[in-house]
Amino acid sequence: MAAKELFRMINFKDLGDERGKLVVIEGNHDIPFEIARVFYIYGSDSDIIRGKHANRNSEFVLVNVAGKSKVMITDGYDKKIVELSKPMEAVYIPKMIWKEMYDFSEDSVLLVLSNTHYDGKEYIRDFEEYRKIMTENKNE
Ligand code: TYD
Repeated sequence: MAAKELFRMINFKDLGDERGKLVVIEGNHDIPFEIARVFYIYGSDSDIIRGKHANRNSEFVLVNVAGKSKVMITDGYDKKIVELSKPMEAVYIPKMIWKEMYDFSEDSVLLVLSNTHYDGKEYIRDFEEYRKIMTENKNE
């Protein structure tokens, strides 16, 4: 059976003109969900790894509005690395996908949009537990 979608790259429209750049992200229009939560990560040193979790209900869109970072994305079988470095380019990560954000440039501002309000209970933070759940799901 083919694994579920790991991620999808999204390119936002360029609404810039001679006055400068403008990028608009509307829920359900430019990204696949209605936005319930926005947060941003900055000031992480280049040797820091953030994330390291999968979410039972949350989907995410990540965009480096400044600077660069990398995202390792896996379902426990396939593994991909996405580089984010453009304010017009985002990665969409469905629920139940494991992600790790790292290699932050000093000026990195990683904007994250989600379809859910924060609920710590829907986070799976143990990779072995995640692997086990994914293996069980695959065999069903
Ligand atoms: P954490 O999930 O470890 O951040 P990351 O995935 O970016 O490495 O979150 C750090 C702390 O912030 C943790 O105590 C939970 C809290 N938090 C919220 O309260 N709301 C949120 O939307 C997020 C992402 C985190």
